[in-house]
Amino acid sequence: MNFAPQAPTYPDLVQDLADRGLLTGRWRQVFEAVPRSRFIPAEVWRQLPDRCEPVVGADAWLALVNSDEPVVTQLDDGAEDGPGIATSSNSMPSMVARMLGLLDVMDGQRVLEIGAGTGYVSALLCERLGDDLVHSVELDPVVARQAAEALAQSGYRPHLRVGDGEQPWPGLGPVDRLIATCALRYIPYTLLRQVRTGGIVVAPLARDFWSGALVQLHVQDDGTASGPFRGGATYMPMRSHRLPDLHDVHGKGRARAAGLDPARLLDLGFALFAGARLPGVRLIHKGTGEGVQVWVTRENGAGATAATGEEVWQYGPGFLWEEIEQAWWEYEAAGRPDAEQFGLTVTDRGQHVWLRDPSEIIRPART
Ligand SMILES: C[S@@+](CC[C@H](N)C(=O)[O-])C[C@H]1O[C@@H](n2cnc3c(N)ncnc32)[C@H](O)[C@@H]1O
Repeated sequence: MNFAPQAPTYPDLVQDLADRGLLTGRWRQVFEAVPRSRFIPAEVWRQLPDRCEPVVGADAWLALVNSDEPVVTQLDDGAEDGPGIATSSNSMPSMVARMLGLLDVMDGQRVLEIGAGTGYVSALLCERLGDDLVHSVELDPVVARQAAEALAQSGYRPHLRVGDGEQPWPGLGPVDRLIATCALRYIPYTLLRQVRTGGIVVAPLARDFWSGALVQLHVQDDGTASGPFRGGATYMPMRSHRLPDLHDVHGKGRARAAGLDPARLLDLGFALFAGARLPGVRLIHKGTGEGVQVWVTRENGAGATAATGEEVWQYGPGFLWEEIEQAWWEYEAAGRPDAEQFGLTVTDRGQHVWLRDPSEIIRPART
């Protein structure tokens, strides 16, 4: 007898999303009707914490495609012999389901997607709304052509455009819903201007201090948009929003005892708070045997690194680690709010993170 575990199938994946409460309303039928495998090319990679690993063999391909993991479909913008950084993918299905749920589409509504990628989200939207109501823009012409082919083979014909989704779609006019499937460092006001009053924008934001969070914004009469953060989300950045992970750091290191376990900095609620208090401070982290190690830097050459159970090292002007600890104590004093209590308002002058109410803007600390 063979007791080898059965490879997961696409219906298993859809069932899992439904069991987790991620497929409300008509979305279950829609997901069932659009198999993910039709949108995934033969050559793909699995995203590991520090690199992308080629997926070899039909069984491994199918197992990845029918799992709740992202499938990387392009490295280094398609260049040969690059560093191996994922630049296009078919996103994690549970994230796709969450974002489509937050988009809250209704029959007859027009949707604009930024980042067509493999075409899978466009296909789901076509199945839900009909081809003519779906618009999707993709910057990379090779990726866009593959998406168009996969969509046509599955019988979908949304409006597809090759171009920069940060720029208005010529002649499109206001849509009801906008979904970005690449991470934005900020919400460009030009995006809001493509959405009608009362419309909804769902996008992953990746700020300097944190790896990413979904935001759901409602566009208001005055053209501004505001709404809550809706949990974490890690997406590859919009091409013009790519930044180096850290700034250059100057000067010799100075050691001191840590007043805070750096693992605490990774809480999404704190990351949203600290990102607003200390704008421009970048943070990256990695797991260690004992906890985590973090590196933080600022444009002026200041930096700090801290690992669980070890001393902190600070570099360059000022005392960046002290500023971070200070932000932590302020966050504690505010009741350690979780990420869902924060929100974002976007106007033609920029964007502000707020806590609990749009009038409670978190202002930058004076450094
Ligand atoms: C995570 S993938 C999108 C996944 C896609 N929604 C799907 O269903 O497969 C992100 C995509 O955004 C595209 N992208 C990056 N910057 C862009 C921009 N400025 N305008 C349009 N697309 C962009 C990338 O080329 C990439 O294909």
